[in-house]
Amino acid sequence: MRVDVVFTPDEAGAAPTGLVIDVIRATSTICQGLAAGYEKAFCTAEVEEARELGGRLEGAVLGGERNAVRIPGFDLGNSPREYVEPVGKTLVLSTTNGTRAIVAAARRCDRVFVASLLNLGAVVAAAREAGEDVVVVCAGVQGTLALDDAYVAGRIVELLAAARTDAAEAAARLTASWRDAEEALRASKSGRNLVENAPDLEPDIPFCARESVLDVAPRLVALDGVVAEIAL
Ligand code: MLT
Repeated sequence: MRVDVVFTPDEAGAAPTGLVIDVIRATSTICQGLAAGYEKAFCTAEVEEARELGGRLEGAVLGGERNAVRIPGFDLGNSPREYVEPVGKTLVLSTTNGTRAIVAAARRCDRVFVASLLNLGAVVAAAREAGEDVVVVCAGVQGTLALDDAYVAGRIVELLAAARTDAAEAAARLTASWRDAEEALRASKSGRNLVENAPDLEPDIPFCARESVLDVAPRLVALDGVVAEIAL
């Protein structure tokens, strides 16, 4: 088994198994929501796609952000702390970078898992069980590398213990340079954006920095045009 890392979703990485990371905060939110009891999460890149789908799905809960804050008219934002108690069965989510990265990976990989620190152990076990080469797809920030996602990519590389591409080795070395996850998340562009745009959401950072507290490996179950459906 070999593990590769792409630091932005536009890089041409492909492998049978894709693990998508947007640790601050979309993939943390999806893992938290499904672990709490939502049955499905439909991910769209664009806000209008989410609104349109939400209008068609009876009782769907619309969640997501732009500039870190809840999208006008949506039920919930993108704070994983809002997803600890489900308020419906089906989520429809659109975020700036994370849901876009999931849709991109769904187009390139045979199987896709949603990864975060919250479910690190479970998602690494799922990738190992699949038994094929892995590409870790970082959402980054608007097409650029983000240190928070790169940190998690390095943790996955460390735990997978597979043959590494140079990019995977780079991620592992970067991860080793931080004292802990929270330090890496706070130093990242994603962490700084969150604190600048929505200071009241700063507690999301330590929340997302907790490792292996959820025993779930959400996976892609369907890609329907621009909508990626995720479930356990
Ligand atoms: C994203 O998709 O860019 C994020 O999850 C941003 C955020 O909500 O902090």
